[in-house]
Amino acid sequence: MIQGTLFQDAPLPKVINVASVPQRSPFRYPGGKTWLVPYVRRWLLSTQHLHPRTLFIEPFAGGGIISLTVVAERLAEHVVMVELDADVAAVWQTALDKETNEWLACRITSFEVSYDNVRAVLAETPRDTHERAFQTIVKNRMVHGGILAPGSGLIKQGENGRGLHSRWYPETLARRIRAIAAYRDRMTFIHGDGLELLAAYQKEISATFFIDPPYTVEGKGKKAGKRLYAHHTLDHPYLFLLAAQLHGDFLMTYDDASPVHTLAQQHGFATHAIPMKNTHHAKQDELLISRDLAWVSQP
Ligand SMILES: C[S@@+](CC[C@H](N)C(=O)[O-])C[C@H]1O[C@@H](n2cnc3c(N)ncnc32)[C@H](O)[C@@H]1O
Repeated sequence: MIQGTLFQDAPLPKVINVASVPQRSPFRYPGGKTWLVPYVRRWLLSTQHLHPRTLFIEPFAGGGIISLTVVAERLAEHVVMVELDADVAAVWQTALDKETNEWLACRITSFEVSYDNVRAVLAETPRDTHERAFQTIVKNRMVHGGILAPGSGLIKQGENGRGLHSRWYPETLARRIRAIAAYRDRMTFIHGDGLELLAAYQKEISATFFIDPPYTVEGKGKKAGKRLYAHHTLDHPYLFLLAAQLHGDFLMTYDDASPVHTLAQQHGFATHAIPMKNTHHAKQDELLISRDLAWVSQP
């Protein structure tokens, strides 16, 4: 049963204030879509009468805030998330496993933050998936911009000069991790290639897809893609082709760049630029792409 009327009738503010969105992800993810949550709610609620939404599929899951929102607010019966990055995957696998979820939550709350301890954790070669998950959480919190790609350095001053402590909220992190365990019957995580998952679910009419790929088309996004993710290259024309062949509904997000408009036009997709604030609090536009975006402006 799909629930929820939240934000359905209210006009969406010009720039979404992320503080108004429940934070459910254990990551601070570069390119994270917390700010898009009110749009995703509106999209899913506006189309729920069309057919039962059995599956919600996120082939480029990253920090997974959209999947977590969908599962928590019962906007679909089951969520499937895919991510290629092995470190990110370790966190999802550990959090969704009954045996290791509590271990991770306790490891976080018992960790004593200091530069020496953080460096020691980051220097380890994890022996198993849950140790790798803990290392990833520590790295994601303690490096500049939460960037897990190789080459990112530890923060020094942090907020208000509090250094590493300004980024470590152990009780909050543990609560978010424990909450994920409660969803494990309605959430499947796959460590793999999102493009393969799209192809596998192509003919599934009751599946809905949220597609937020790493953006690496020539232009301003190229550098950003390289800097932000270990896996930053993708066959974007092929992704558009797969999207065009999906029987189910989909919503894609991309940087608002001309090569992306060209691909959308080639497939007859609708586009809509919406303002957001990037991690440096600068306003920029993000592009929504789908077959029909009438719901964006029709409450
Ligand atoms: C823009 S981010 C997704 C952010 C996410 N929507 C969030 O809110 O946190 C894109 C993600 O795709 C992942 N990725 C890159 N290539 C992939 C592939 N072929 N299959 C699955 N995931 C991939 C990257 O590691 C990155 O985490």
